[in-house]
Amino acid sequence: MNIILLGPPGAGKGTQARRLVEERGMVQLSTGDMLRDARTSGTEMGRVVAEVMDKGHLVTDEIVIGLIREKLLSGASSTGYIFDGFPRTLPQADALANLMEEVGQSVDHVIEMQIDDAVLVARVTGRSTCANCGEVYHDKTRPIPGNGKCVNCGGTTFKRRADDNEDSLKTRLLAYYKQTSPLIGYYYAKGALETVDGLAEIDDVAAQINAILT
Ligand code: AP5
Repeated sequence: MNIILLGPPGAGKGTQARRLVEERGMVQLSTGDMLRDARTSGTEMGRVVAEVMDKGHLVTDEIVIGLIREKLLSGASSTGYIFDGFPRTLPQADALANLMEEVGQSVDHVIEMQIDDAVLVARVTGRSTCANCGEVYHDKTRPIPGNGKCVNCGGTTFKRRADDNEDSLKTRLLAYYKQTSPLIGYYYAKGALETVDGLAEIDDVAAQINAILT
């Protein structure tokens, strides 16, 4: 089973994707994570990517489609893919449909995480992640344990993202409404769209997603 998690920055896509990896052994394909790896690679492409991401703009379709293409062609997942943060534009959605056909697979569910924009600033400015395994925390709603150790791997170093500030979030939200939200209509018309309440507590959102997948 292959699924797409669709929603604005801070909707909870990464949090839910990690749960699906743990609970169902699915493979998370996050273009945001891939691009964050690329930006530390020391290459010219990494430098360009860093500049674009920090401002909150979208990286070119060519780069992200190339990253996804490489992953999909490097071997099929028997447990299914979770596309987290991809596709984000109509050309990316078409490219994904073609790539899936090429590898003999399909997208089974597109899950839109519906959220109130008013909560997004608090969500992204309170976020931190384990530097070792990427587990996602939030200063208020999912704090780092009192012993300072990651619940997943025991790591003790946590980091914040350069683009998790109010200014960058405004640009990211604009990019979402201008370039990504048309995908809601695109997948609705294809009969693939399902929705969950992204404002619910993390466990409740996970239960809603599981109900769709079973
Ligand atoms: P990316 O890394 O994909 O970021 P994003 O889409 O902006 O989404 P986020 O990771 O910010 O949020 P999320 O929905 O995963 O929320 P999370 O679970 O962490 O992209 C970053 C940048 O890379 C883009 O701006 C762009 O430049 C580039 N890029 C990436 N993909 C691209 C593409 N395809 N094309 C072009 N450019 C691309 O949760 C957020 C916080 O809220 C956490 O602290 C969490 O603990 C908390 N939380 C989560 N769920 C709940 C809940 N239910 N209740 C309370 N708190 C919650």
